[in-house]
Amino acid sequence: MRTPLVAANWKMNGSKTFAERFFSDLNLEALASEVVVCPPFPYLSLVAQGVEDKSALSLGAQNLSQESSGAFTGEVSADMLLDWNVRYVIVGHSERRSLYAETSELVAKKYVAAQEAGLIPILCVGESLEEREQERTLDVIAAQLKAVSDIIEGDAWKHSVVAYEPVWAIGTGKTATPEEAQSVHRFIRAELGEAGAEVQILYGGSVKSANASALFAQADIDGALVGGASLDAKEFAAICRAA
Ligand code: G3H
Repeated sequence: MRTPLVAANWKMNGSKTFAERFFSDLNLEALASEVVVCPPFPYLSLVAQGVEDKSALSLGAQNLSQESSGAFTGEVSADMLLDWNVRYVIVGHSERRSLYAETSELVAKKYVAAQEAGLIPILCVGESLEEREQERTLDVIAAQLKAVSDIIEGDAWKHSVVAYEPVWAIGTGKTATPEEAQSVHRFIRAELGEAGAEVQILYGGSVKSANASALFAQADIDGALVGGASLDAKEFAAICRAA
């Protein structure tokens, strides 16, 4: 039995005032799902405070370095995240892949760096619109997963979360239909082999309270990675309640 998980990815949004208000507006009473909030780095400490106050919440980060320390200006290591009581870290988000040229090989190194430090990576995979139209969706996702499989050992997949985020659905208002998403989620679970039954696979891409229940009703959709709608505490709480 997999616990439903809903993660908020604030991306490069928010402020000190926003973070404080978010937690005073967030009502997660009687929630069956696990909730993760991933703010920008400067607000981790503020959000850590909010997380301490709410037992169902965990703290997440949006990125980390594959390196452990040294002359890497602007980078943040896994151990630094642990110092802030971070539990989850997003790796391979499509914005990192496309805007910051992160290759699947680099993403795999970040995944390993996170796990070796004791963080739970949320590995994002997904196809572009062009790749979907060329019917290459499953090949693209298989290759993104294989880059990680190639360098991990043993049951490492079990200690991670995978997020399927079709690039064409991110921030566009277009969502994969529940059936489209389910068929990719089923494929991902099979690709994970023995660990697949235990790994939470989240859907991401224009999730909101109006479409969340239909997505979460699918057998292999265990929750969501929420961008835009996670900036509204009431809307985000409604998505969490649907999981
Ligand atoms: O990490 C979250 C995803 O990129 C989805 O973003 O909900 O704004 O489409 P969105």
